[in-house]
Amino acid sequence: MKPMMAANWKMNKTAKEAADFIKALKRKVKGVKGVDILICPPFTALQAASKEAKDSIISIGAQDLFWEKEGAYTGQISSKMLKEFCSYVIIGHSERRKYFAETDETVNKKISSALSAGLKVILCVGETAEERASGRAKEVVERQLRRGLEGIQAGKMIIAYEPVWAISSGDPNHKSATPADAQEMHSFIRQKLSQIYSIEHAKKTRLLYGGSMKPENVKELMRQPDIDGGLVGGASLDTGSFLKLIGFKG
Ligand code: PGA
Repeated sequence: MKPMMAANWKMNKTAKEAADFIKALKRKVKGVKGVDILICPPFTALQAASKEAKDSIISIGAQDLFWEKEGAYTGQISSKMLKEFCSYVIIGHSERRKYFAETDETVNKKISSALSAGLKVILCVGETAEERASGRAKEVVERQLRRGLEGIQAGKMIIAYEPVWAISSGDPNHKSATPADAQEMHSFIRQKLSQIYSIEHAKKTRLLYGGSMKPENVKELMRQPDIDGGLVGGASLDTGSFLKLIGFKG
């Protein structure tokens, strides 16, 4: 499966900073074939980012959406609005679950809305440190998958496993999951997808790892059979380090 390196910029970069980054990056990745590149800037930078990424191999995604098509929902952005500027959307990131009351039920509505608008979805799942310590990591991930995907037809979906305890929150020295722990959960996720959908669908679904992926650990993580790419926060904010992730094979 062709790997993907996806940048989740979170609440970082203005429209101008995003455009400057993509301008620099697209020159460097011209001709890159072995990996898909996705950048998810904040809403306010989507237009500038998509303009700059046009006619390059870089795809653009959003970090969230609201499930209604339009209406009196102050501050919200719909899938129809995103469709003008991007082709992907991240749904259910742990920071949205933690700070903005995202639940498996709202995640489910968002996935349904995004897919019906023709957006490709990156569904994030992952357990907290406490859930892992109490031996419930797999149970939590399975619940997030089953409830998040309830009633959703097998579609253009990517799953990102992001153990909450491994997310850097901007700290460059934060520890990632070990490649073995990440692989174990990825293999579990693929198994669950084959139960929810089919073995064929599970086999061709990309599974991204997220949580302190950086130039120092990318090779070992990407060597795992069920890790098909990364969803990267901190290490994607600088062109130099993001390029190293894109070139993980080299
Ligand atoms: P990180 O964030 O790479 O900074 O750990 C990943 C994410 O939260 O998507």
